[in-house]
Amino acid sequence: MAATKVLVVDDDLNIQRVLVFTLKQEGFEVLVASDGEAGVELARTGEPELILMDVAMPKLDGYAATQRIRQAERAGARVPIIMLTSEADVGERVKGLRAGADDDIVKPFHPLELIARIRALLARSGTGTREGSSEHATLGRLSLFYGAKGGVGTTTIAINAGICLTAEFKRRTLLMDANLQFGDLRVFLDLGLESASIVNAMNEPDLDAELFKKLVVHHHTSLDLLLAPTTPEAADIVVERQRSDPASLSNVLSVARRLYDYVLVDMAKSLDDFNLQLFDEADVIFVVMTADLSCLKNVQLMLKTMDNLGYERSKVQLVLNRSNAFTGINVKNAESVLGRKIDYQVINEYRGAISALNSGEPFMSSRPDSPLGRSVADFAREADRQAAAEVAAVR
Ligand SMILES: Nc1ncnc2c1ncn2[C@@H]1O[C@H](COP(=O)(O)OP(=O)(O)OP(=O)(O)O)[C@@H](O)[C@H]1O
Ligand SMILES: [Mg+2]
Repeated sequence: MAATKVLVVDDDLNIQRVLVFTLKQEGFEVLVASDGEAGVELARTGEPELILMDVAMPKLDGYAATQRIRQAERAGARVPIIMLTSEADVGERVKGLRAGADDDIVKPFHPLELIARIRALLARSGTGTREGSSEHATLGRLSLFYGAKGGVGTTTIAINAGICLTAEFKRRTLLMDANLQFGDLRVFLDLGLESASIVNAMNEPDLDAELFKKLVVHHHTSLDLLLAPTTPEAADIVVERQRSDPASLSNVLSVARRLYDYVLVDMAKSLDDFNLQLFDEADVIFVVMTADLSCLKNVQLMLKTMDNLGYERSKVQLVLNRSNAFTGINVKNAESVLGRKIDYQVINEYRGAISALNSGEPFMSSRPDSPLGRSVADFAREADRQAAAEVAAVR
């Protein structure tokens, strides 16, 4: 699918650079003009599908340029124009709209706001259905897997759900190992010491889709992986980078969301800054637990923390692993202690789980029809259905 073409008309080189970078990251093709006259010319010859027009420019200002573009348009062909104004003054802004602009945004603006306005305008003008590029056909969901305590099967469920989403449901899926110090994916998936990792992604100031793709490791099941560093010391680099510049993690996540339907994250168990940012940015947090007292206590604490953070109840979903293993606490007991329902259950099958783990071949790949495979597939199917419904409601 061809990328949507956006024309940037601005004489300020810094703003040009920021806009070009932001738009390209979003998958748009970008044309640039440095003054009003060049803008009018490129609007005619370049056939942009949307124009960002600065107001104050040499030769021809943004108002005049907009008027000329409108005059030159054929009947029925109207390219959406957003004015970039420095004026919070209503009178000035109205002037832009009168000149023929469809919307305006006051500088300095947040890139996310600009992108939201661009998409809204494209959708209104009918171009929005042709998204920036094929990359935008993704659901772009960020789903976290967080264990209520160690060893409950968080990594097992994240890997196998990921394989099911990609192999069975044909969703483009990335699994990111955020167990920065002791990530298990290399071992569980028999990957050896692939060198690229989240460290590279976090340290890359100009990370874009092309660069990101080079850091991703492809598993034979078509699940893609962004691995943890190979040494615990390298994990400090990531944590430090996130602390000094939280935008570096946001950028990694947003590039990944644009490339994938699902960005699954296998998390370490701690409530540090890195994880709190992940929680904030996530669409859903799957808390993996087993039916024992220490898990129940931790889940209660988790739910309270999530409440305090102001998250909606539905953002946190409980996944009871080994649900039919005898612990003396059944699902009903667990639900009444927690005061809420367990959202998903995955059955207990120790031999299937451990032998897959030790052979380096996940059960979802070697035995998808085993009871354990089917149980995780049920979870993945329902989670996918809910995510797709939410995305459809927003779009
Ligand atoms: N549904 C299941 N039935 C039986 N055994 C399971 C199941 N899920 C996971 N296991 C086993 O539990 C053990 C721990 O699994 P896993 O490493 O996935 O847990 P984790 O929560 O990621 O642990 P860690 O805290 O070390 O990251 C493994 O031996 C795995 O085979
Ligand atoms: Mg784990």
